[in-house]
Amino acid sequence: MRTQVGIIGAGPAGLLLSHLLHLRGISSVVLEKRSREYVERRVRAGVLEQGTVDTLVEAGVGERMLREGLPHHGIELRYGGAGHRIAFEKLVPGRSITVYGQQEVVKDLIAARLAAGGDVRFEVEDVALHSLESEPYLTFGGERLDCDVIAGCDGFHGVSRPAVPEGVLSVFERDYPFAWLGILARVAPSSEELIYTRTERGFALHSMRSPTVSRFYLQVPADAHVEDWPDERIWAELKARLESVPGFTLATGEIMEKGVTPMRAFVAEPMQYGRLYLAGDAAHIVPPTGAKGLNLAVADVRVLTEALAAYFADGSTELLDGYSAACLKRVWRAQHFSWWMTTLLHTFEDDDPYARRLQLSYLDYVTSSEAAATTLAENYVGLP
Ligand code: FAD
Ligand code: DHB
Repeated sequence: MRTQVGIIGAGPAGLLLSHLLHLRGISSVVLEKRSREYVERRVRAGVLEQGTVDTLVEAGVGERMLREGLPHHGIELRYGGAGHRIAFEKLVPGRSITVYGQQEVVKDLIAARLAAGGDVRFEVEDVALHSLESEPYLTFGGERLDCDVIAGCDGFHGVSRPAVPEGVLSVFERDYPFAWLGILARVAPSSEELIYTRTERGFALHSMRSPTVSRFYLQVPADAHVEDWPDERIWAELKARLESVPGFTLATGEIMEKGVTPMRAFVAEPMQYGRLYLAGDAAHIVPPTGAKGLNLAVADVRVLTEALAAYFADGSTELLDGYSAACLKRVWRAQHFSWWMTTLLHTFEDDDPYARRLQLSYLDYVTSSEAAATTLAENYVGLP
């Protein structure tokens, strides 16, 4: 079997790449180890930058997102007994975000690929990469797929990055001493906009998915397990952290999904080796406080599509050779922003009283200086 681009992973990166390549007349096969039901149910990110929305719309897969997604023109930072709005319409006019679940993006992309006769294979076993320097190929479940190029879109725990020979990649990483407990609940959001809350008990985030479904995150210890967090404990802790301004009451409801996500930052450079190109979480991850993970994956794929289109049109490798450098600029900006948002809003156990006062002072600055708030807003909605 032969294809132009062998894609490992049917997350947002792999599926979008396959779809964008199809629009350019370039063939691909997507190999995914999980089932279609599993990837369509996996609850993860929810904030789409303007650039991500534009990419999905231009690619013809944005119709349901435009109908069901929730456009947001601001977020609230809540701390010290008060809420402070970061107003995108004033600070970054014309730019906004859309709240639409990652699993919905994945559903829309799978539907588009299958409708166009795309080759997306689920529950594929033992994917392995071979001959990355030239004439690369993939093997899986006893089959062989020859390709011109391999795209490693298989997330942080995939097989693509480890297939690069030892010593080639430089790795930069940081583990945070806490995790996020995320829940999806059948209850109307208690706020129209997202609330990022800093309290002495830790960070909490109120997000949403629809007028009847809310999404919440709690800062929890790094070794927390969902079994330690029965529903009553989650609601009590969310209330303790979010009901920290006068007059705000958190509505509760049935919890439909729970999960603990470790907080980690990671970058592997360069994002390419031989005929292998890494995109999305396979190459880099950020702590989720800045809502950047999914948006970075989409940005990588945009760059890779242009580079592959040029390569398959006339054999030119200039854009492919510059792929990693082009992506890493945005990746490192997002790394910094995600680190900054994380340190601004979380409690760190070994912070002394001085460090806590510094954090509050910085929050005061961000919410009172237009220049500082603009920095937050322009990074949050996404750089062009
Ligand atoms: P993924 O979505 O991870 O997709 C990779 C795909 O490859 C998966 O379908 C996987 O099953 C498949 N795969 C893996 N190994 C193999 C293999 N050997 N063979 C074949 N297929 C393979 N970001 C935010 O902005 N906000 C959040 O709240 C948030 N929450 C998250 C929670 C979790 C638990 C995780 C893991 C990530 C979260 N993120 C969040 C980050 C965001 O979801 C990711 O950045 C985004 O999913 C990246 O897309 P991707 O396509 O690169 O990788
Ligand atoms: C969501 C996730 C995030 O990481 C974030 O910063 C904001 C919202 C969400 O899942 O809705």
